[in-house]
Amino acid sequence: PRPIFLTRHGESMYNLTGQIGGDPPLSDAGEQYAIQLASFIGKQLKSEVTASIWTSTLQRTSLTAHHIVRFPKVQWRALDEINAGICDGMTYEEIGKKMPDEYLARKLDKLRYRYPRGESYLDVIQRLEPVIIELERQRAPVVVIAHQAVLRSLYAYFADKPLKEIPHIEVPLHTVIEIQMGVTGIQEKRYKLME
Ligand code: G3H
Repeated sequence: PRPIFLTRHGESMYNLTGQIGGDPPLSDAGEQYAIQLASFIGKQLKSEVTASIWTSTLQRTSLTAHHIVRFPKVQWRALDEINAGICDGMTYEEIGKKMPDEYLARKLDKLRYRYPRGESYLDVIQRLEPVIIELERQRAPVVVIAHQAVLRSLYAYFADKPLKEIPHIEVPLHTVIEIQMGVTGIQEKRYKLME
């Protein structure tokens, strides 16, 4: 049985300010998580000869992978966070004030709502298809370090969750979700490595 480990990047500077999107670096806590994650993965994959670490092209995921040195890393643009278009860099509060129509439209249909000049969850789900195909082909463990919207979509695929639930699935920071594919379905374990 070949595990897949899913995790968000460590806490970023934007997580601290409540801004969405962008390409921020990690906070001090996020950097701590990167260290914890490397030791966790080191233990979990101690006896593995091959494994790979997949990140997005955004620095918060590669910085989170930084201390894992034993396995090769692959960057996927398809793992980048949902593109918030004209709302990139804003807080939800700002969007509510400056673009109340957009805010409401998203609230009413978060799955289908597409940020102007950006993406919807459905767009994200679609662009993840090649990642899923490649994940299913892997014979060695894979550690996927990505983002909330992306991991909601990937997790939903493996856990067989209905589309409409995807934008609301909880994927907390600083937590690793281990998925094992068995004949009868998936088995899941969660490890909260720090607060
Ligand atoms: O930066 C974007 C968030 O990680 C996605 O969260 O889809 O709940 O707004 P949301």
